[in-house]
Parts: sequence; C-alpha cells; structure tokens
Amino acid sequence: MTLTKTDNDNLSKKLSIRLFAIDRLQKSETEPIRVLDCFAGDGLLWHYLKKESGHLIKHVGIDTLPKQGALYLGDNRRYLHRLSIDNYDLIDIDAYGVPYCQMKILAEHNYRGIVVGTFIQCVYGGLPYAMLEDIGYSRPMVQKITKLFFSKGWNKCAAFLRLLGYEEVYVYHCANKHYFCCIPTNNG
Ligand SMILES: C[S@@+](CC[C@H](N)C(=O)[O-])C[C@H]1O[C@@H](n2cnc3c(N)ncnc32)[C@H](O)[C@@H]1O
Repeated sequence: MTLTKTDNDNLSKKLSIRLFAIDRLQKSETEPIRVLDCFAGDGLLWHYLKKESGHLIKHVGIDTLPKQGALYLGDNRRYLHRLSIDNYDLIDIDAYGVPYCQMKILAEHNYRGIVVGTFIQCVYGGLPYAMLEDIGYSRPMVQKITKLFFSKGWNKCAAFLRLLGYEEVYVYHCANKHYFCCIPTNNG
C-alpha cells in the first residue's frame, strides 16, 4: 500500500476553521489581516479566503519546496525563530503530522495571536516524546506501554495546547485528522 500526502483533504473543514479564526480577529473589512502561513504549499486555502472572506488579507507563506504560496523557502522552524512573528495576527500551521515544534517555538516567543493548524496522527503513528513529556509522561513510562500513550493523540495534543496557555481551542475532527484553532486568553 502506498500512502500519499495530500495537501487539502477535508477542504471545507479547513476553510471553516480559518473563517472562524478570521471572525475572532474582529477586524473591519479594510483593516489588513496579516497571516504567516508556515506550511504554505500552493496557498490554496488563503487564496480562497482572500476572495471569499470579505477581508483584506496579507499573506506571507513559507514552504520547504518552491510551491506557489511560498515567499520564503526552507524549514518553517528556522523562520519562526528569525521573523518578527508579532507582526502577524494569525499563524497557520497546516502540517502533515504533529506540529509540536512549531507550537513550542511560538510559545517560546510568547506569540499572542491566533493559531490555526492541522494535527494528523497516522494509523500506526506515534506522538513526539517531547510533547508527552511536557504533559507529564516521561520517556521510560511511554516506552513501557507505548500503545497506551500513543492512543487518542488529539487528547494529548489538546492537553499540550492547554499547557501552552490556550484555554480556548476549537477543533473539527475528521478521523485521524484534527483541524484546530487556538485563541489566546486575552482575545475578545
Ligand atoms: C498540507 S500542505 C499545505 C497546504 C496549504 N495550506 C494550502 O493551502 O495549499 C503542507 C506543505 O507543508 C510543506 N512543509 C512540510 N514540512 C515543512 C517545514 N518543516 N517547513 C516548511 N514547509 C513544510 C510541504 O512541502 C507542503 O507543501
């Protein structure tokens, strides 16, 4: 069996969670919304949202590959450390897997904007040990009963997001794919 990575499964859910995030920014239609899109791909989502949301969206994309949505080429973790991320109202982390490192970097830089993203745990997939460690499960503990600690991945991720200080997390669940929006505590 071959597993292919598809960029935009469940397109309507991905768009809905982003429309919700745009709404929560409470900007007028003429006030620009500055988006840093860390897994930009061909920029399909934000291309659509620019046309349909009725808002003025300034989109800056990062991708490791020279895809259509990418202004910056390379690993987003490098850029998240280097860019002035506070200049962005919303950061998009539409990952193929678990965007643990990206969330961690945003927390280290005390980013206070809205974060939307995708968390995918493949059927036999693990979870980052570091994330489990952050929420209180030590590596030896996890290694003893891996199956238990790798189960219900989204619940573990939600606990991690709460630990980072996001009290409001909205999510669409589509099998093993979870489309989330984290609202910082000080947001409306
Ligand atoms: C799910 S697709 C993104 C689709 C995109 N949101 C859209 O609207 O079309 C994921 C993209 O992330 C890129 N990618 C994967 N790992 C990355 C990384 N560490 N840094 C930057 N881009 C990455 C892949 O090349 C791929 O284009």
